[in-house]
Amino acid sequence: MSKAIDKTIIPGLFITGTDTGVGKTIVTAAIAAALRAEGMDVGVWKPVQSGETMGRGMTDAERLLSLTGIQERPEVVAPFTFEAPLTPMLAAKQSGVTLTVREIISAGSPLVDHYQALIVEGAGGVAVPLTEEAFVADFIAELRIPALIVARSGLGTINHTILTVSYLERIGVPIIGVIMNDIEHTESNDDPSIAMNAELIERYSGLKVLGRLPRLPRLHTGFNSETLLETFRAAINLAPIRDAITVQTMGG
Ligand SMILES: Nc1ncnc2c1ncn2[C@@H]1O[C@H](COP(=O)(O)OP(=O)(O)OP(=O)(O)O)[C@@H](O)[C@H]1O
Ligand SMILES: [Mg+2]
Repeated sequence: MSKAIDKTIIPGLFITGTDTGVGKTIVTAAIAAALRAEGMDVGVWKPVQSGETMGRGMTDAERLLSLTGIQERPEVVAPFTFEAPLTPMLAAKQSGVTLTVREIISAGSPLVDHYQALIVEGAGGVAVPLTEEAFVADFIAELRIPALIVARSGLGTINHTILTVSYLERIGVPIIGVIMNDIEHTESNDDPSIAMNAELIERYSGLKVLGRLPRLPRLHTGFNSETLLETFRAAINLAPIRDAITVQTMGG
């Protein structure tokens, strides 16, 4: 692991997930949009992204910007973009780049300078190799910000969520809660586990499930940002998220 940094780089919240493709981008965008609508000066940061090239609107940075309406260059939101659909450490290596946590953090400094707080989207889950020496979880610990876990609502989610929680707790990352997400193909009537998953996750993790984001209609251009914001506000308890950031911006 790289050398620890002494204090919080910037107030914020790290959006991690139980896996790749669980809805981190959607949730990161919705949180940023909801807080910005309340007048909070939050930005978005995707420290490393892999699997797409910039320019076609498909990368997470581009999706975060279009869903939040934040005016920023995608290269600033995601300073490291690698085409290979591999874990960041390997995708970088394939492009001839050796990532370090220190470089990833310093590449985020324009965002740190521009905003009061950042909603940071991770890559994959917590035990994903980000650099040669750090998993995503180590990076969260270095940033010294709390994490929020995005989990699928369906079968298998208890196992994935509890494993994610225990890994983060083991390295001392505070977790503010879990958001369950009805990702594509989740149909509540053909997965009887959904009804009990949130309750069981609360029981076994001791964390709060802040809500369950329903499946959103997809347009050919992606998701409608207003629909996302309205749906998110109706389904998710934003108060613990807002409080976690407010406490940090007040120096608490
Ligand atoms: N609530 C939802 N309703 C409908 N589609 C969804 C929902 N949440 C996510 N999706 C879709 O599922 C896919 C995965 O979501 P998303 O890209 O947000 O996941 P991710 O965790 O950010 O993935 P990655 O690990 O690649 O960053 C996307 O195509 C997204 O549009
Ligand atoms: Mg994403």
